[in-house]
Amino acid sequence: MANNFRYYSPTEVIFGKDAELETGKQLKRLGASHVLLVYGGNSARRLGLLDKARKILEEEDISISELGGIVPNPRLDKVYEGIRIGKEDKVDFLLAIGGGSVIDTAKAIAYGLAEPEYDVWELFRHTRTAKKCLPVASILTIAAAGSETSKGCVITNEKTGEKRAYDDNLARPKFAVMNPEYTKTLPDYQTESGCVDIMMHTMERYFTNGGNMEITDSIAEALLRTVMANAIILHDNPCNYDARCEIMWAGSLAHNDLTGCGNDGGDFMSHKLEHEMGGMFDVTHGAGLAAIWPSWARYVCRDCLPRFVRFARNVMGVTSEGTDIEIAEAGIHAMEQFYHRIGMPVNMRELGIKPSDHQILDMANRCMAACKNRTGSAKKLTLEDAVEIYKNAR
Ligand code: NZQ
Ligand code: ZN
Repeated sequence: MANNFRYYSPTEVIFGKDAELETGKQLKRLGASHVLLVYGGNSARRLGLLDKARKILEEEDISISELGGIVPNPRLDKVYEGIRIGKEDKVDFLLAIGGGSVIDTAKAIAYGLAEPEYDVWELFRHTRTAKKCLPVASILTIAAAGSETSKGCVITNEKTGEKRAYDDNLARPKFAVMNPEYTKTLPDYQTESGCVDIMMHTMERYFTNGGNMEITDSIAEALLRTVMANAIILHDNPCNYDARCEIMWAGSLAHNDLTGCGNDGGDFMSHKLEHEMGGMFDVTHGAGLAAIWPSWARYVCRDCLPRFVRFARNVMGVTSEGTDIEIAEAGIHAMEQFYHRIGMPVNMRELGIKPSDHQILDMANRCMAACKNRTGSAKKLTLEDAVEIYKNAR
């Protein structure tokens, strides 16, 4: 039976070739007068997007401040720096040029500027909730995290090694500019990690013991099949524009909550377990998910068997006969083969990390503390379960 749900996805999407040319008009229409441009290492500059954005904003008489150098697994110190700049320059709009790390930094700065009397990290420690947030928008350069339309924001406190999420509709971006042309320069590893992350955002919502709706499941399965087919195309031909389009749009749909309507809000334990790996070892998010998912899936599949059987049949194309558990296992194995096909790891060794028993216990403890009482839907995990899943993924 379907659960009650609310679906709120207010982000205007401007998609396709030359989409970035709309940015100035959009900002003007939304009343921006002083924009903080947020970007990463080199890609925004190399792509020419930074110069383009500066020019477009100047043409609209919009003042600009800048914060560059955002790194993957984005850091809290950059958020504080952005808040400082934003206060001094009286910034009233944030424009991120980049991917999830850059957009999440912009969101966190936007929270900090809207309520300057508080420390923004309190949101990520879940000791208070936000009441306000400045408007945020993005020019997306990598299809992966889905932050361009999501309510999520993930920041790493570099001092404590904690990578923490704060989810709130307040931070849903006002608009997202998506020109898939700009994703052609991505290193293969980033493209493929992005594809895994996109799939995982849907799979986290699919493998649940909550309510179900056929329309939601069918959208989810089509999305997963489409991403797999196009990930393989891009692995062999990274410049295929149509495949770039499919993946980019899937990235937004996978994490704007569309594939969760009617279920119980999702499992999200693969994400929570991976965030600790990101906090401790600074791994690429999507690749980290690929490394932990098979272990999680084998550990929980008996507790969510009908979903795993359906997944094996409808997504992974398993046609062999057998018991339900054999079919579920065949589906998990087929996913591992797909990960390998696109150059992704299926365990931590292949990911390039080797956590000790002590580090695993530390990650499991931190993960449980961060989850509070939401420790999964396919199976509600305990500390001992988390330790086993990490160990089995080594
Ligand atoms: O720093 P630059 O030079 O920009 O390079 C970036 C970065 O090294 C590069 N890149 C981006 N666009 C490019 C490009 N290189 C060449 N050509 C381009 N067009 O890609 C690298 C990765 O960028 P990043 O922004 O880190 O990627 P992604 O979008 O995968 O974001 C990952 C972050 O988002 C978080 C993850 O945990 C991670 O911190 N997530 C955010 C979510 C959300 N806000 O809803 C949900 C996700 O589950 C996820 O947790
Ligand atoms: Zn993710």
